[in-house]
Amino acid sequence: MAELRWYKIDVEIPEGDFVRQLNIAGKKLCLLRHQDQIHLVQNTCPHAGGILSGGWCEKGKLICPIHRYAYDLVSGRGAEGQGDYINIYPVRQEADGFYAGFKQSLFSRFFKK
Ligand code: FES
Repeated sequence: MAELRWYKIDVEIPEGDFVRQLNIAGKKLCLLRHQDQIHLVQNTCPHAGGILSGGWCEKGKLICPIHRYAYDLVSGRGAEGQGDYINIYPVRQEADGFYAGFKQSLFSRFFKK
């Protein structure tokens, strides 16, 4: 498994459920809290380019606001019959806040090292 680099999520994390866009290192992602868990996923819907941060969560899934495709927040898999998935990124909590993990190759692409 590729080593992860951890990058601080430098925005205020509200209490309760939320879905919002987050920019990390020039990349737009979708940050959300659902069922007391923080998740970070891609922001563009693989179906037809909807903005997932405009969506909402139901029963562990993120719902795209355009055609209501559903994506599992743990596996990233689309609901049965969709045949697609979204990228999910690990999030961990430290004493000074939340951090998002990126595989090094992806991290390197972000930062053009
Ligand atoms: S664009 Fe997201 S479900 Fe169609």
